[in-house]
Amino acid sequence: MGRFLVVCASRTDQTRQIGDLIAEGIRMAGHEAVVKMVGDIKNEESLKGYDGYAFGSPTYHGDMIQSMKQLLFIAERAELENKAGASFGAYGWSGESAERIFNTMSIIFKMKMVSSPLMLKASWVQGGMRMAQDYGKELASLG
Ligand SMILES: Cc1cc2nc3c(=O)[nH]c(=O)nc-3n(C[C@H](O)[C@H](O)[C@H](O)COP(=O)(O)O)c2cc1C
Repeated sequence: MGRFLVVCASRTDQTRQIGDLIAEGIRMAGHEAVVKMVGDIKNEESLKGYDGYAFGSPTYHGDMIQSMKQLLFIAERAELENKAGASFGAYGWSGESAERIFNTMSIIFKMKMVSSPLMLKASWVQGGMRMAQDYGKELASLG
């Protein structure tokens, strides 16, 4: 059984809800999923000991929120090379954050990434619940 960590940054809870659904999908696939908020991750030690990671931030003013940028600097020191990776984020119209997180995980951390970032306008519209659960299953399949 793999162990996965989902880390969420969120201002009005949309991205956190997506993170919870991703964790549900990981569990449906028979693995363990832990969900944390970015503020819970104080240093690289808190990121160690997992087979895969999903990092999520909403987009505000064309960018991820500051706490997720800090998380990525912590993650840089956590030796995540070849670990399974995924990124996600709630958005309104442009949704840059999930792709930026995805590229950082792929290019800088050299993680084994799922096919693409998951961007959802809200977890409950456009089949978003199922998409987020399936995304968790895809991540789990790489772990
Ligand atoms: C002040 C403000 C700026 C925003 N800027 C963007 C933006 O640049 N691009 C975008 O796609 N969505 C933007 N949004 C929409 C948010 O990404 C959206 O509300 C999202 O669901 C918030 O997620 P959260 O609940 O996880 O914080 C903005 C929302 C607000 C209130």
